[in-house]
Amino acid sequence: MFASALLLACGVLLPASNAARHEHAMMPLEHRQGNQHSSFAFSTAWQVLGPFQIGTREATWGADPLEYLGGFGNLQYSTESHFRSSLPVNGIAKWSTTEAKQSLDTLGSAKASLPIGYSNVDWDFLKVVYGWAAVQYQAWARGEIIVTGNDTQHVVLYTDAILEFWVGDAHYFGGDFYTYRKAPPVLHLKPGTHKIDVRLVRDVRAFGGILEPTIDVVLELRNTSGSLELAKPGLLISDVVDGKLASPVTSVTLRNSGEVDVEIIDIQPSHVRSPVFLPERNEFQVVLSSDSETLTASQANSTITNNTFGQVIVAGQTRPVAFNVSLSSYNVSSVNYTITYKPVNGSKRSTITVSQALNNLSLYEPHKITYLHPGGMVSYAMLRAPAKNASCKPTQTSLPVLLQLHGAGLEADNGVVAHALDAVPELCAWVLFPTGVTPWSGDDWHNWGFTDVEAAIRSIPSWIKHVGWKGPAVDIDRWVVSGHSNGGQGTWYALTHRPDRLIAAAPVSGYASIQKYVPYELWQPMDPRRSAIISGSLNSYRHEMLMDNAQGIPVVQQHGEKDDNVPTYHSRFLSQLLFQGGTNSSYHELPGQGHWFDTIMTTDQMKEFYRKQTASNETLPRKLEEFNFVVADPGDMGSKGGIRVLNLEDPGQYGRVKVRGHVITTANIWSLELETHFLQSSSITIDGLEISLAGLASEGSAPITLSKADGSWDIGGRNAAEGNAKYRRGRQLGLMTAVLRTQGPFIIRHQGSHTAHVALQVARNLHQYFSADSEISSGTPSDDSRTGNVISVVIGDVPPSLHPDFPIKAGTTGVSIRDSIGGGTRSFDEPHLAAAFIRPLDGERLELVLWGSDEAALSQAARLVPMLTGVGQPDFVVLGKQALWQGVEGALSLGFFDHEWRVSRSSLV
Ligand SMILES: *[C@@H]1O[C@H](CO)[C@@H](O)[C@H](O)[C@H]1NC(C)=O
Ligand SMILES: *[C@@H]1O[C@H](CO)[C@@H](O)[C@H](O)[C@H]1NC(C)=O
Ligand SMILES: *[C@@H]1O[C@H](CO)[C@@H](O)[C@H](O)[C@H]1NC(C)=O
Ligand SMILES: *[C@@H]1O[C@H](CO)[C@@H](O)[C@H](O)[C@H]1NC(C)=O
Ligand SMILES: *[C@@H]1O[C@H](CO)[C@@H](O)[C@H](O)[C@H]1NC(C)=O
Ligand SMILES: *[C@@H]1O[C@H](CO)[C@@H](O)[C@H](O)[C@H]1NC(C)=O
Ligand SMILES: *[C@@H]1O[C@H](CO)[C@@H](O)[C@H](O)[C@H]1NC(C)=O
Ligand SMILES: *[C@@H]1O[C@H](CO)[C@@H](O)[C@H](O)[C@H]1NC(C)=O
Repeated sequence: MFASALLLACGVLLPASNAARHEHAMMPLEHRQGNQHSSFAFSTAWQVLGPFQIGTREATWGADPLEYLGGFGNLQYSTESHFRSSLPVNGIAKWSTTEAKQSLDTLGSAKASLPIGYSNVDWDFLKVVYGWAAVQYQAWARGEIIVTGNDTQHVVLYTDAILEFWVGDAHYFGGDFYTYRKAPPVLHLKPGTHKIDVRLVRDVRAFGGILEPTIDVVLELRNTSGSLELAKPGLLISDVVDGKLASPVTSVTLRNSGEVDVEIIDIQPSHVRSPVFLPERNEFQVVLSSDSETLTASQANSTITNNTFGQVIVAGQTRPVAFNVSLSSYNVSSVNYTITYKPVNGSKRSTITVSQALNNLSLYEPHKITYLHPGGMVSYAMLRAPAKNASCKPTQTSLPVLLQLHGAGLEADNGVVAHALDAVPELCAWVLFPTGVTPWSGDDWHNWGFTDVEAAIRSIPSWIKHVGWKGPAVDIDRWVVSGHSNGGQGTWYALTHRPDRLIAAAPVSGYASIQKYVPYELWQPMDPRRSAIISGSLNSYRHEMLMDNAQGIPVVQQHGEKDDNVPTYHSRFLSQLLFQGGTNSSYHELPGQGHWFDTIMTTDQMKEFYRKQTASNETLPRKLEEFNFVVADPGDMGSKGGIRVLNLEDPGQYGRVKVRGHVITTANIWSLELETHFLQSSSITIDGLEISLAGLASEGSAPITLSKADGSWDIGGRNAAEGNAKYRRGRQLGLMTAVLRTQGPFIIRHQGSHTAHVALQVARNLHQYFSADSEISSGTPSDDSRTGNVISVVIGDVPPSLHPDFPIKAGTTGVSIRDSIGGGTRSFDEPHLAAAFIRPLDGERLELVLWGSDEAALSQAARLVPMLTGVGQPDFVVLGKQALWQGVEGALSLGFFDHEWRVSRSSLV
């Protein structure tokens, strides 16, 4: 199972299915109860309408041709209806029917599998012309959920491989494209039949490119308790090493499947009766219940952390709740916790318990460690501490971190991932197998996923303290990075975005960028200005554009010659670009090999790479005499050669820095920071201007900032004091995805019952796709000390920005945008308008505003919340209704904000 998942680690391919082809079948929609044990079931007969064209990751923008006709929901099945479509024979798509395979296995559940495929499209020839882009398409399917009996059924709905659907009149965008099954919507279904409309979108990265272009949809309903319950069994807890938990931080994921909001009051070990606070010790003392006669002396009176909660889980929400655990005795094999909660507007307390078996290992085995992701929820990585007999040189007192990034669809704790380097047990390094939070590493090891990698690295010193490690120390600023497939792409990301941390990199079977992997050819046509904005929003993830940043770093590449998942082309291409960028690299193509085999990460050249590079004594950051540095998004870019770019002039295009000794030339850079080694000379020349550095070196080791004003450079930043919302900086930089740089759970603020559905959907998607935590609150925002980024869900007037003169205003009269060129203001006042844009908050926090003129428009805006990679949301987007079928061309205005939050030149106003 793992092996086959690994085999297909970049795009999880579904097994070849003999998809039924029913284009011409004509059957009436019939009801049949699929599961005699449940009071709910799916209909057997489904009506399908398709296929239609869709581009790679385009569906977020809309681009649904049936919206031109009022939406699939308004169309009725008819064998007579013809729909124009660019894909099938005669340019005509029609209704068809298909039978869902019902599965009767589990009590309290109903499952329907829909195999969809089209034989009236010449996929092979389209593929010759358009490549893998051609085997992506969209269609809609309609069925029913039938509830029998007299009771409302409280269920969750799993929507594997689905991005968008309707149940009755409720629209759901987000679904479960990667089949995580983490945050299904909770439905309270009344007796009777409920229409369910499902949009099917085929995606090569998720479904594969080489097999038959079918879509295998699985829908599953499961009964729930109708109150608070475990969203998944057990705890996310670290392994136990030599008798002690490797890390104390733990979490339980809870789902409120009821209809009222609840509040978590307390989480305590199940055998604890009542914790007593001892003020003199400033800690809780717990007294064990009397029936625990078997408990040993060491278990009694164990101290626990003050697990104070108060988290609210709104009706339908799934939330991870973090707490600290310490084992009550040295050698326990499981822990049991009791969670106490009450309705927010009530006092009746209830409890649920969670039990988790512990995994006991030796300190030296790869094991699970837990830590807090900056987003406020618990994440984990697998850690292999340096071996007892590691052959380190005496000078190596502080060892580097060897990162191994996994491929798509894999959990790092599945055993295979963390043992991939067992063949090189003696390495002088801390070997870390991060998760990136999810099997798809959050966002392909980019913003959210790489933040997780860095949090995992930073947690190693805490581990050292916690377990009382006596071996070699760790240098958390020196990394050797490798990874396979999506993790190979993540290795390119680390190489191009953290060059000053990297000793060396070995990307294996990785891809250069999503656009090179599955071409963007078949998006709806758009103005080149618009495509430049979408493409510009993905600048930071086009590794082929960032190869200059690798200069000075040893790179070993490896790829199977016969890889039919990630074409070998990607590695050959980047190998050529590395050469042209002056990087010392080697490329190993494995004859006859495919995407994956068991020892792909421990071939001779890989073993040699790990041994040689973990023993490297090269000083970081490297002092390079001559180099080029390309920056797409200063918010996710570390320094190179001691230079850090703080702001671009226009975030819609790459910024470049060329260094030749102490002569620096820039393009599209507004401010940068120089580390102290630059201060060793008396002056530098930047863009032809000589700047004296005399006297600066003696002021201490703080880096100096250079900024541009009126086209000329000067020492000093113009980013006024902390807390000032006027200038854009740090975590605020980037695009709409910058909102993912939250510190603490997201705060989703909405207005009331009419916005609750969208607020909950945003929280569900953030948890589904990123395992993120969100607090949902409605009504007037109360000022508090919460630190997370805010997502505001608004119909009507958007409250004013903290920024004194923010260029976008949205309200009951429409949207206005002030252009930075000429200062003109463009207003939109169509009846249906939607907008999504980021605004500054205090410190470096951000607010993502989702605004609609009405509920339908709001739900259109909410599609743009970052979720899947490759969508390309810039800083702001205003959508007209026509985007629902035209895609990006239906955006009325979109673009970027500069360092003062002005609309940048490359925007479309
Ligand atoms: C679901 O239904 C089955 C069969 O009626 C029952 O045994 C089970 O406890 C139910 N599950 C929940 C979570 O209520
Ligand atoms: C449903 O309610 C009706 C009317 O109250 C009653 O006659 C019937 O027996 C109930 N059915 C079930 C399955 O409880
Ligand atoms: C535990 O939490 C309560 C409630 O917030 C607080 O009053 C108390 O000081 C906390 N105790 C410790 C030891 O942090
Ligand atoms: C537990 O705490 C109680 C009260 O502080 C004390 O009397 C008792 O001796 C303690 N038991 C152990 C095993 O430490
Ligand atoms: C867990 O303990 C650490 C200190 O050991 C503390 O910083 C952290 O806030 C605690 N976390 C929770 C969820 O209580
Ligand atoms: C822990 O358990 C192991 C195996 O069950 C046993 O050999 C060991 O002595 C135990 N250690 C302690 C301190 O109880
Ligand atoms: C936790 O509960 C399980 C059964 O639910 C039990 O077997 C186990 O001994 C319990 N563990 C502790 C530490 O109480
Ligand atoms: C690194 O090691 C080599 C020999 O092993 C030595 O010649 C060199 O000076 C060392 N460099 C540093 C920076 O310590």
